[in-house]
Amino acid sequence: MLKNQEDIRWTYKIDESELEKDLVLIDNVQFIYELSLAELELKALGVDFTVLNGLREFIIHNKNKDLIDTIRKRTSYFKSVSGKLTDYFYIIQKNRTKSVNQYLTHWIYPYKGKFHPQMIRALLNIIGMRKGDLVCDPFSGSGTTALESQLLGINFYGIDVSPLCVLQGKVKTKSVEKVIEIKEIKNEIINRLNQNLFNSEANYYKILEDIKDEDVRNFYLLARLVAISDNARRGKEFEKSFVKNLNLMVDSVEDYKEVINKLKLNLGTINIEVGDVRKINLPDNSVDGIITSPPYSIALDYVENDEHSLIDLGYEIDKLRDKFIGVRGNGKNKIELYNEDMKKAYSEFYRILKPNKYAVIVIGNATFQGREVQTVEFTIDYMQNLGFAFEKNILKLIFGLYNVMKKENILIFKKMN
Ligand SMILES: C[S@@+](CC[C@H](N)C(=O)[O-])C[C@H]1O[C@@H](n2cnc3c(N)ncnc32)[C@H](O)[C@@H]1O
Repeated sequence: MLKNQEDIRWTYKIDESELEKDLVLIDNVQFIYELSLAELELKALGVDFTVLNGLREFIIHNKNKDLIDTIRKRTSYFKSVSGKLTDYFYIIQKNRTKSVNQYLTHWIYPYKGKFHPQMIRALLNIIGMRKGDLVCDPFSGSGTTALESQLLGINFYGIDVSPLCVLQGKVKTKSVEKVIEIKEIKNEIINRLNQNLFNSEANYYKILEDIKDEDVRNFYLLARLVAISDNARRGKEFEKSFVKNLNLMVDSVEDYKEVINKLKLNLGTINIEVGDVRKINLPDNSVDGIITSPPYSIALDYVENDEHSLIDLGYEIDKLRDKFIGVRGNGKNKIELYNEDMKKAYSEFYRILKPNKYAVIVIGNATFQGREVQTVEFTIDYMQNLGFAFEKNILKLIFGLYNVMKKENILIFKKMN
């Protein structure tokens, strides 16, 4: 755990007077939903508290060493507790990007529609996940739930229909164990680039074949795709982007290693594979929690979005497309197919979750042909039909992420016995 504030490298200020307070919120916590989550996570961790002063000041009534330690090690929205800086406040300083939430390896690959990692850490606390529990994200996407579970020592199982997503999740969570091996071959790879040997795809994939360790190979494969994506989306020169991003990726993985050592973290185990949510490869009643975000009806075309990388990986886009929820069909039929697929997905959630445990679904209503599609209402109704109790609905406003979406909902369900 962190000893003093000299360990903090940059970004956030610490005001000495703040450290006298029981709890201090991290400066960027400002939205109502964030304050709600901050309160819910304190309650879930057994803290008896009162909120004062415009919702930003907290007084703890049941202070004791163990509780302070738990708050310090687990919470997501607090900078300090009883004068001690939290683990999370240390973790978020390790950020190689300009985006507040893209600390450690979260930033690797510009995937659209990522979760806010801070929110996921809070939700893991709110649904009572503890070290050694198994949490599942069956729409694992870029691997946000995976990395946040790993940091808290919670075991993780995730699937995604996109092999590119699976690759992202693996690289973000597994590279930290291979820092030495990754660094060992970095210069050789960059030299080969300078000799113009891997300008052509065939050459680079040949180089990858020579890397025997799967995690190291995945790391260098994703490094290529980051540059490919930078080139396709922003017109950046491939070679320059590759070297710059590769260096940043290595730095981020080293940051992660430093965090583990400094905070003495015991990481959760990670298992991510290509799969279909409509038939999850897990036994009945086998997971302690689900935290996920399905495709928002027809809000975002995930296939089109990552087409350049999927083609580079050798996939036939049209074949892949058939398996993606929310992109099949046209017009009204598209929404019907979406609902049909999501019913199968939610039935699987019910099947794999242990009784009395929670499923969190982050979802919003998209606008299609000028009309709002009632995806949230559909989700609540169907989950209740399956035997889930609807426990909470936290409204999360998002600003300009993509035009069709204005707000999303954090829906919390409990599987009844
Ligand atoms: C909203 S995104 C999840 C983003 C994720 N929460 C994150 O932080 O990156 C939804 C994901 O569902 C995946 N998906 C679509 N159809 C699927 C299916 N049939 N089975 C599993 N995953 C699917 C997409 O590839 C996409 O990554």
